[in-house]
Amino acid sequence: MLENILTVNDLSKTYQSAGHTLTVLDKISFSIQSGSTVSIVGPSGSGKTTLLGLCAGLDRSTSGIVELNGIRLDNLNEDQRAQVRNQYVGFIFQNFQLLPTLTALENVMVPLELRGEKNIRAHAMDLIDKVGLTERMHHYPTQLSGGEQQRVSLARAFSNHPKILFADEPTGNLDAETSHKVEKLLFDLNTEAGTTLILVTHNLELASRTQRIIRLKGGLMISDENTGAEQLNEVGYVKE
Ligand SMILES: Nc1ncnc2c1ncn2[C@@H]1O[C@H](COP(=O)(O)OP(=O)(O)O)[C@@H](O)[C@H]1O
Ligand SMILES: [Mg+2]
Repeated sequence: MLENILTVNDLSKTYQSAGHTLTVLDKISFSIQSGSTVSIVGPSGSGKTTLLGLCAGLDRSTSGIVELNGIRLDNLNEDQRAQVRNQYVGFIFQNFQLLPTLTALENVMVPLELRGEKNIRAHAMDLIDKVGLTERMHHYPTQLSGGEQQRVSLARAFSNHPKILFADEPTGNLDAETSHKVEKLLFDLNTEAGTTLILVTHNLELASRTQRIIRLKGGLMISDENTGAEQLNEVGYVKE
């Protein structure tokens, strides 16, 4: 049986400014099956990044429910949400968000250190190897190309074996060939580890390779369609 890893119910986010209310997300509801792949698409400013941040527990809703792996995030304080993120969530930002004073390897070591893991260096080197950057592991972010930086951020996001990986326009700043490599890594992780993949993208070809496309416009969810792309079972194999 496939369970829901993420449930969003009547989720709204508003901002107050100069005496009026800006509604950025308006009563969004959906559920996402564990191990599935989903794209969130929509014009710039439609609320995609805000939605991803709420689902990942990076930010708090104004009203409505987010339930991640059976845990209600809206009831939690910042520290508790951080714990849930540590345990279950990987997040890839559009602009990589690597720490500039640390090498590629050290950037991957940070979350491992925060979790108090043992053999941090060996584990981080293994992750760096998986994204094909062993030769560049002692380089600083400024010495790496955009694609290499994004692969470091992937290695970092994978470090806690997340049950769910959120990626905000992960290939938006990359050339076609590099995008292709990063996409392959994302889908391979979904296939091999059964990691649920939720990505924001402008690339409709990429979106069509996920099983489901959720479309936002002006903070409203205007469509939710299945693409017919392959469905995984809970141990990560394509169904017969
Ligand atoms: N902290 C904030 N304060 C006020 N408005 C915000 C804030 N963050 C985002 N917004 C607004 O919310 C809307 C949706 O933003 P965003 O989620 O980044 O959209 P998208 O990722 O689809 O481009 C935009 O109009 C943006 O200006
Ligand atoms: Mg955005």
